[in-house]
Amino acid sequence: MTPEQREHLHARWAGRTRSEWASSQVMARLADEVQSATGDASLGDDLRRAADDEAHHGDLCVAVVQQLGPVPERSGTLPGLPPARSADPAVALVERVLFLLVTGEAIASALLGQLAQTCRDDLQPTIFRIAVDESRHAQLGWRVLDTLVGRLSPAQRAELVTHVPAVVGMGVASFRSQLTTPWPELAQQWGLADQGMTEAVARKVIATYVGPELGQRGLWQR
Ligand SMILES: [Fe+2]
Ligand SMILES: [Fe+2]
Repeated sequence: MTPEQREHLHARWAGRTRSEWASSQVMARLADEVQSATGDASLGDDLRRAADDEAHHGDLCVAVVQQLGPVPERSGTLPGLPPARSADPAVALVERVLFLLVTGEAIASALLGQLAQTCRDDLQPTIFRIAVDESRHAQLGWRVLDTLVGRLSPAQRAELVTHVPAVVGMGVASFRSQLTTPWPELAQQWGLADQGMTEAVARKVIATYVGPELGQRGLWQR
């Protein structure tokens, strides 16, 4: 591996580490929001457990980062999310669940599941573990979504339906940044996707899973 390649892999894994840490903070905030919106402590607890999973993913990533270079700093500030489409807080909360859990976790899980099959043997346990957890988070996402949607008025639900395609699109787009790699084969050995693979997996997940599930709930007519 050249120094340039090492630097590239280090930057990608450091980015993955930071995004796991950020996702832990975002999940913890979502746990409080969902619990106060629904009064359902078990949903809040499950989301807090998901936040712990994300922190653990960050630690697993650190072990890989250390093989390549220095460990990134943990940011003290809460990560931002794309602005909600709806001005109605109840609808905006469903949007966040749709973006982060239902779409984001499903794509992450499928992508990591695929990467686990092509990466170096020593990275497989880490990548499989994260893939399985993200899949559980996506399933939790549907439970949270159904609970929140069940509490919307017909007018709020109708408004949500108008935003669903854009929110799912933002979920897909959130995977596009920083995925270009001049060495796709090397990146795959290190458990990292390139843009083409990410696009293809994201499209399939939406077409075969997220879209039909939303369709069955009458939330997305395609
Ligand atoms: Fe994660
Ligand atoms: Fe997750």
